[in-house]
This record gives sequence, C-alpha cells and structure tokens, in this order.
Amino acid sequence: MASKQINLRRIGVLTSGGDAPGMNAAIRAVVRTCVYNDMIPYGVYQGYDGLINDKIEKMDAGSVKHIIYQGGTILKSARSLEFKTEEGMDKAWRNVQKHKLDALVVIGGDGTFKGAMEFGNRYDFPIIGIPGTIDNDIYGTDFTVGFDTAVNTVVEAIDKIRDTATSHNRLFFIEVMGRDAGFIAVYSGIAAGSEEVLVPEKDRGIEQLFESLERTSQRKKSSRLVIVAEGDKNGSVYDLKDKVRERFGDLYETKVTVLGHVQRGGRPSCADRVLASQLGVKAVEALIEGKRNAMVGMRNRNIEFTDFDRATKQNPKMDAELLRIADIISI
Ligand code: F6P
Repeated sequence: MASKQINLRRIGVLTSGGDAPGMNAAIRAVVRTCVYNDMIPYGVYQGYDGLINDKIEKMDAGSVKHIIYQGGTILKSARSLEFKTEEGMDKAWRNVQKHKLDALVVIGGDGTFKGAMEFGNRYDFPIIGIPGTIDNDIYGTDFTVGFDTAVNTVVEAIDKIRDTATSHNRLFFIEVMGRDAGFIAVYSGIAAGSEEVLVPEKDRGIEQLFESLERTSQRKKSSRLVIVAEGDKNGSVYDLKDKVRERFGDLYETKVTVLGHVQRGGRPSCADRVLASQLGVKAVEALIEGKRNAMVGMRNRNIEFTDFDRATKQNPKMDAELLRIADIISI
C-alpha cells in the first residue's frame, strides 16, 4: 500500500452508494478522531456529487452528536454518474482545492472505492475507504458496516413470514438483497431455519430445489421457506413460483415476498456501531500515518488495509462451509 507522510489539517468525509446502517457511526468516529487530533473535519454531502457541486461544510465534534444510533447517513448518499467523467472529477478536484482538503475518508462499497482509486491516483490525493454496504461483498474485511443490521432485519421479517407459512401450510419464496452476492441470503437462511437458500455463488439448478421441496413433503413439513438472493441465476422469485406450479401443479400454495429496501434502514445493531467506530478511528489514524488509497477492514479481529485496486478487483469468497451447514440443518 502506498504511504507518504504529509501534514494533515483538513479531512473530508463522505458516504456514497447505497446507504447502510452504521454509516452514521462511522462518520461520527471519523469526525471525532479528526477533532481529537487537532484536525478539521469537513462533511461532503451527497457522496461524490457533493464534491462536484461544492456541498462541503466544516464539522465539529457536536455535528455528530446523537447520530450513532440512527440509520441512513446524515451526509446523504448518491451513486454519482458525473464523477465517472473527467469533467466531473476535475470539478470535484477544484472544490477539494477550494476547501484546502488534505485527504478524504470515503464510506461505501465497491463503486465508491473504484471512484476513490481513480481520483486518488489522478490528483495524487490521499484517500482511505471504509466498507459500508449491507451486501457484505467487499474483499478485505470479514464484515462490512451495515451487514449485521440488515441480516437481523431480514431474520425478523422471515420469522414473521414463518408464522403465516405454518398457519396456512404455505410455500414462500422470499427475495433478499445482496446485488451479486448471497451473504444476506445464506446468513438469514441459516438463522431463520429456511428450507432452502439460493445464492448466485453456487448455482445448483432448479432440480435441486424441486428435490428439496419433495423432501419437505415426505417429512410432512407444514411450511416451506426458500430464501432467494436477488442475484440468483434461477430467475426471479416470481419465475420460481411459476416453475413450481408447472412442476407440481396445485400441490403447494405458493406466495412471494420481496423484502426490498426495508433491509437497508433502521437503527444499526451494536455490532455495526462498534465495527463502524473501530474502522472510522483507524481510517483517520491511517491517514495520519501516511497511508493512502486503501480500504480499512477487520479480519479475524485484526485491522487490515487492502489497496483499493485489490478490494475492488477481488471478490470476497462465499463461505462454502456455511452453505453446507444450511443444507444439513434444513433437512
Ligand atoms: O448495495 C446495496 C443494495 O441495497 C443492493 O443490495 C441492491 O441490489 C442495491 O443496493 C439497490 O440499489 P438502489 O437502492 O439504488 O435501488
């Protein structure tokens, strides 16, 4: 990882991409660590769009009071298309210079880090990233900020669906988020005791699902929950419902639930607040030490830094053992 000692005075912080519970805790930690080290934190509003459109404001320790328990992000977020253009980056750079920012902390996912890498390289500007996304799809950290809260939200919802599924002997296909990753699906599937989990990382085909449903009939199960990651290759939850009908006729009364954006909101869990606080402090300390163009993550309870290049190119591995466990305990 690149390292270059510079004199830091003004640090910008922004959140970008999909909001995630715990982003506020990370902002708070970044701001307070700046103040603790006699530096001035600047909040950049609406992600990279805020850099481009000069939505940049000085913050202090009080600006982040009472936010550690709030979902969403007080700095707001955006998926900036303009920042992907040369003109957009140049505008952003002019505002960085206008406010005399010496470095930036960006909180977000894959797209956020790709933008940070390009901007950092183009203008030789120090940036440290904090992984914040409910998808947990970032290489270089065991968990991303927001994932724990999201899976807890999902499990709570699935538990409720189970009540109806059992009362009416129904089969439910429940779609969960995760973009191209199945972490939310496999964790919530295990925790909610689902009958089957479908994830993009391991496509076992529709026949496997049919066999699994037949097994539930042999075992006279009164409800069947199938958790489907939104990126799964077997089609949407609605397609799956149709396929089951084609194969089994009216044998299963089938319902579909798409959990959607409810998964992104809500108060962050304790685990997310603590992780966000740890990574927020370390992000600023890393900049002070001269680190740049890297993401700070937590692996095996240790703080680790991963170059943006690697964090964005390498996919985190789906834990095959978790999938195996989900299979065993769902028979
Ligand atoms: O990356 C977080 C996430 O919630 C994904 O799980 C989902 O695919 C995507 O964002 C939805 O994005 P949007 O809120 O922009 O529709």
